[in-house]
This record gives sequence, structure tokens and C-alpha cells, in this order.
Amino acid sequence: MTQWYFWGDKQFADIYENIYIRTFVEDWFKIVQKISEEIKGGKIIDIGCGEGHTTKQILDRVKNKYICDLVEPNKKALISAKKFLKFENKIGNSYVNTLSTLRLKKQYDLVFTSHTNYYWAINEKGYRKQLIKILSFVKKGGKLMILTLPEKSDHYNIMLKQVYPKFNYSEYIANFYRKRGLNVRVKRFRMRMYVGDMVRNHHLFDLNNFYRFIHNTNKYPNKRLSERFRTKIRKFQKNGYLDFKDALLIVEKG
Ligand SMILES: C[S@@+](CC[C@H](N)C(=O)[O-])C[C@H]1O[C@@H](n2cnc3c(N)ncnc32)[C@H](O)[C@@H]1O
Repeated sequence: MTQWYFWGDKQFADIYENIYIRTFVEDWFKIVQKISEEIKGGKIIDIGCGEGHTTKQILDRVKNKYICDLVEPNKKALISAKKFLKFENKIGNSYVNTLSTLRLKKQYDLVFTSHTNYYWAINEKGYRKQLIKILSFVKKGGKLMILTLPEKSDHYNIMLKQVYPKFNYSEYIANFYRKRGLNVRVKRFRMRMYVGDMVRNHHLFDLNNFYRFIHNTNKYPNKRLSERFRTKIRKFQKNGYLDFKDALLIVEKG
């Protein structure tokens, strides 16, 4: 069974297999394409690259010469990423670090991170520190790109309780940088997930795995919670799809 090292010590193999089957691939590749179009080559760093699947999809579409460093707290995932990427992408240094433990002496033309901001800090003060830190890795004239979810994402809409604090929302991050006088562009995307089977089918296995993914937990819900969760999914789905609505923040360091 494939194991996705996405959350450090938590390896949700069954959940992630299930999640990847659910994603609307065309939506995802539009996002990948847009990210790569924003990369004009030079020195790049991907923070929280996991096993490097997204990194590769992006780098494969970059037209100019680049060299990409990698950061990932999960050592095994980073080893896999390097092996996998070195085959045909130009990879430089790699660091087994979280954003908060990362120490870098150089700056980059492009710093990017995809769906890692939820894990940066446990409180708002610590989170703001990380927002400043990640920007400090960008050269003057360079860009920071953060792919994350907006407040209106169905990922957040269907949660039975608030798991991720509001400072994770894309709007919070954009405001944070704008208030500091930076130019922030926001590209909004559809990121649909198929859930039609879960609303039409009375079985619980997939529904419960999806619950665990959405609530970032190892624990299975009881029957009552599962059914409440199904009701929420039913409310927000359209034609069998939820829309996670990815937002790409492009922060320009002038
Ligand atoms: C949802 S996965 C996203 C992986 C990859 N960026 C992608 O989009 O396919 C989150 C990744 O963030 C990493 N991560 C967890 N905590 C982190 C932190 N504090 N700083 C940087 N990365 C972190 C995890 O190990 C994992 O690889």
C-alpha cells in the first residue's frame, strides 16, 4: 500500500489513497500550471515538499533555468522526494526542518509552499512570526507563493468543529502582508472533490476516512457524528462535488 508521508509522524495511508481518488485532476493541474507560470527560473525553494509529487508537477512545467532546494520535516519523505526528483529536475540543497527550525543563509527568487501553513504554529503569535520568517527567505524583487484554502472552502464548511484557526485562511495571510505594504495577488481556483458516493451510499467506511482527513485526526467518529458529517456534506455538495477552492497568494517583495 502506498504510504503518503504528509504529516510527519501521522501516516494516513488509507485516507490519502481515498483522498487522491476523490480529487478532480483537471482542477489540480490548472493550479499546478498557474504556479509554474509564475516561476521565472533562478533559485527556488519548496517548503514542506512531502514526497515531492507536487514539486515535480510544478518544476516539470518551469520554462527557464532553475535550481530548487527542498525543505521537509519528515526525513523519509525528503529522501523519497530527492530520489524521485533528481531523475530529471535540478535539485540543490535539502533540509530536514520545519519552517520554524529552518535556518538559511541565502535568499531565493521564489519561495513556495503548498498546503503546509496549517502546521506552522500553534497560536497566532507564533504563526505571524512564521509569516515574517518565510518572507525573509525571499530576495528583493522575488516572490513568495503560498497555496492554501480560503475561508469559504468546503473543506472548512463541512467540518463539525473548527479544527484550523482562522489565521490559516488565505484572507488572513493576504491581509497580513498587505498591511505591511506588500503587493499581494490572489489567484482563486476550483478544487473539486468527488463525494457523490458518500451522500448516496449508506455505508460508513469512506465517510469515516473522509471525516478523519477533514478533521485532521486518527480517531474514527461514532455513528451519530458520521451521520451529522454526511448531512453537512450533503448540504454543501453540488452535483456530487465539494469545492475546496484553493487560493494562490503571490506576495511580491519589491
Ligand atoms: C498536506 S502536505 C503537502 C505536501 C506538499 N507540499 C504538497 O502540496 O503536495 C503537508 C506537508 O507539510 C509538512 N509540514 C508539516 N509541518 C510543517 C512545518 N511546520 N513546516 C514545514 N512543513 C511542514 C508535512 O511533513 C507535509 O509534507
